[in-house]
Amino acid sequence: MTARVNRRWVLAKRPVGEPTEDCFELEERPIPELAVGEILVEVHYLSLDPYMRGRMRDAKSYAEPLKIGEVITGESAGVVVESKSDRWSVGESVTIHQGWQSHIVVAGDSPALLPADTSLVPLPAWVGVVGMPGRTAYFGLQRVGKPKPGETLVVSAASGAVGSVVGQIGKILGLRVVGVAGGPEKCAYCTDELGFDACIDYKAGALEADLEAACPKGVDIYFENVGGAVTRAVSRLLNDGARVPICGFVSLYNSEQEMTEVETPFSVFAGLANTPEHRFFLVGEWHDEWLEASRVLAGWIESGELKYRETIAEGIESAPAAFRGLLAGKNFGKQLVHVAG
Ligand SMILES: NC(=O)c1ccc[n+]([C@@H]2O[C@H](COP(=O)([O-])OP(=O)(O)OC[C@H]3O[C@@H](n4cnc5c(N)ncnc54)[C@H](OP(=O)(O)O)[C@@H]3O)[C@@H](O)[C@H]2O)c1
Repeated sequence: MTARVNRRWVLAKRPVGEPTEDCFELEERPIPELAVGEILVEVHYLSLDPYMRGRMRDAKSYAEPLKIGEVITGESAGVVVESKSDRWSVGESVTIHQGWQSHIVVAGDSPALLPADTSLVPLPAWVGVVGMPGRTAYFGLQRVGKPKPGETLVVSAASGAVGSVVGQIGKILGLRVVGVAGGPEKCAYCTDELGFDACIDYKAGALEADLEAACPKGVDIYFENVGGAVTRAVSRLLNDGARVPICGFVSLYNSEQEMTEVETPFSVFAGLANTPEHRFFLVGEWHDEWLEASRVLAGWIESGELKYRETIAEGIESAPAAFRGLLAGKNFGKQLVHVAG
């Protein structure tokens, strides 16, 4: 038995509204000896993602809710430090979907494990721009948004992990790209550094008028990340034949009401006279193509066409506070937690 311990965050109680510190508990558990076929991953970075808030609700969804006492769900990037698997060698970099933990023992053939080729991009990018959020942008825009050059794309949470990649792929594909983000700094980043044609600060008080001015030919694709007031404003501008990939609606995740009682993007779009083609999608729909998508995204980073930004909280202890910040827009780009390495 090794002397090292695994530190892991578990769900202590279900949040009502914004998750408070007492919803999370940091536990220590001994790291077990490996069985034949298993590996031990030392986690270097946790990925924090808005969908984790949905898992904390005791409600039916596309995934089972977390149980009280269960490790908070999530993906991490780390390094194999022990191996009894002939598939993985010590020193290899991986991503692993086994929650907020410092050390993870997992079967070498687990589908939750993926290689992370750090000769292409640094390790944290494997849970960001070329990982799950980047792939979400890649497939959601292209497969559900079905873009055509010259069309106008609006993307919300535009400076975030998914939104920033959506907008930049939009530019690569020849679209007019209009972002919506919170605050002048995030908007300036989208236009000045990422090359968006315009970015509207939804907190500046003139959302509808500003959007209309930025979309003189209406909106052909709205990549939905937030819901709420932004959804209502964009819905007025949708052209006939518009497509709306519904990726998420983060503005509603901390709602104290049941999701069946709040106004979701589905009800907004379904209620329009010119209802756009719209559907919720999950990045997992294209699981077989994930690594190919990562290679394409890494190629765009290499060529300078795709830029990214990360907000990195220090230490596994900081995960709950960083998660609350993510839901309140305090992150700038992909929110990570640096755990080790
Ligand atoms: N369907 C899938 O497979 C899939 C996969 C990954 C992610 N997603 C979804 O994609 C969306 C973006 O996720 P992400 O990981 O890229 O997060 P992110 O954009 O990096 O961070 C979340 C951002 O949401 C914005 N936000 C928070 N509250 C808001 C509000 N009340 N109104 C408007 N914007 C608000 C904030 O940006 P501002 O400061 O600009 O407001 C915040 O920075 C989420 O809805 C997430 O659930 C879906």
